[in-house]
Amino acid sequence: MKKLVVLISGRGSNLLALLNAIEAGSLHAEIVAVISNRSEAPGLEFARSRHIPSIVVPSKNRSRADFEAELSAAIEQYSPDWIILAGFMRILGSDTVDRFEGRMFNIHPSLLPKYTGLNTHERVLAAGDQEHGASVHIVTAELDGGPVIGQVKVSVFPDDTVETLSQRVLAQEHTLYVQTMEMCVQENISMKQNCCYVDGKAVSLPLLTLDNRAIET
Ligand code: GRF
Repeated sequence: MKKLVVLISGRGSNLLALLNAIEAGSLHAEIVAVISNRSEAPGLEFARSRHIPSIVVPSKNRSRADFEAELSAAIEQYSPDWIILAGFMRILGSDTVDRFEGRMFNIHPSLLPKYTGLNTHERVLAAGDQEHGASVHIVTAELDGGPVIGQVKVSVFPDDTVETLSQRVLAQEHTLYVQTMEMCVQENISMKQNCCYVDGKAVSLPLLTLDNRAIET
């Protein structure tokens, strides 16, 4: 069973989707700890209520080096196979990224490589795009720039607001993160230097593409 440590900063709806999938038997993995950089992150409650160790490593009012050293030690204490960033709102430095090379995943609300960074829904609406989505990628030193493993597309409708569009994307993020991680479990995925290997053989990316542009909710 793959051991996962999940990093969050806030609401934790992607964490909840992963927990629900594990409980339902559709994701064959174990979440061994949840770590937040904010003590007030509502998502911590999802771990606590399931008696999964929940740890706060504060990022405020300290140097990045201090924060990341404590974070890395907290992660390593659980010897995870993979580290899952789920709404973790800190950019990690190359020391941390290198330490967990090829083992850190993130979900980002855009069709990467488009719209790295913040406010993706606003930017998609401002550009008049007709499609949007979310991507699961491997974390590298480049912000939202690592290899994309899974992607889901949704439509943008003419009367969409940031609220309606973000809700449509978020619902699909939950499915995408679960399905991508389960595929990584089943296919025995490993990543090294921006290449993805299945059973030791290099494969092309993304491994999973979901097209939900026909779904209007
Ligand atoms: C999601 O939109 C995710 O893509 C982004 O941050 C948000 C986190 O939401 N990285 P939640 O905390 O999982 O509800």
